[in-house]
Amino acid sequence: MQDTINFIKEKTNNFEPEIGIILGSGLGEFADEYCEHSIPYSDIPNFIKSSVAGHKGRLVFAEIQGKKVVMMQGRNHYYEGHSMQEITFPVKVMKKLGVKTLILTNAAGSVNECFRPGDLMLITDHINFMGANPLVGSNDDTLGERFPDMSEIYKKDLIKIAEKCAEKSCLDIQKGVYFASSGPSYETPAEIRMARIIGADAVGMSTVPEAIVANYCGLKVLGISCISNAASGISDVKLSHTEVIETTNKAKSRFKAFILEILKNI
Ligand code: HPA
Repeated sequence: MQDTINFIKEKTNNFEPEIGIILGSGLGEFADEYCEHSIPYSDIPNFIKSSVAGHKGRLVFAEIQGKKVVMMQGRNHYYEGHSMQEITFPVKVMKKLGVKTLILTNAAGSVNECFRPGDLMLITDHINFMGANPLVGSNDDTLGERFPDMSEIYKKDLIKIAEKCAEKSCLDIQKGVYFASSGPSYETPAEIRMARIIGADAVGMSTVPEAIVANYCGLKVLGISCISNAASGISDVKLSHTEVIETTNKAKSRFKAFILEILKNI
């Protein structure tokens, strides 16, 4: 950790970010427009590089709306074969760099049949169906406690602010529960029916490990899903990563306006 922090501080002229943003599939372009310093993951000690199409793989630092921000342009996923601990290491790095609030974004399938592709959803809670937890292993007491409370990971005050920002940007916003499956295969229709029955509104393959670690080390979390497709079994259309990227691409100007408004107000 200390090697990683020293390296980043040196490359960024001791930039001290207060807000972290992890940009999901198709949403990474946001960081291109606001880039003061950038470091490819492959250069950073102890980071793993991103291998998924639509994910760029670099850490970007910038001041946006008067806030100092560090962005992950692309994330690593459990389904790539990395451990839960490896994919959540960057969240711990953000904490050590001084980040207080973490905005997690992703592309997700809709489980709630009222949602439409292109909708943005504020995550109110999650269901971890990945079969693993990033906090397994010995505990680092300097970061957080062994048995962290998880009753309000996605902070209600941030959700309220985001709802007001959506109103200002004339955006219809959804709210709901994010269900995380490990992937890389999409879910079966039966799995989606189960997810709906147990209270899920959207499904995806990321975010939850990062949210668990962020909550554990005391970061306030705001989660935003871009609904990229109807989940398995809801429509006759077969699921594809191309569709996911195409839909998030169409939503990106709304997404950008929304994030800018949020940054102004948190
Ligand atoms: N399922 C899981 N992950 C996803 C989906 C989906 O339908 N869409 C985008 N990411």
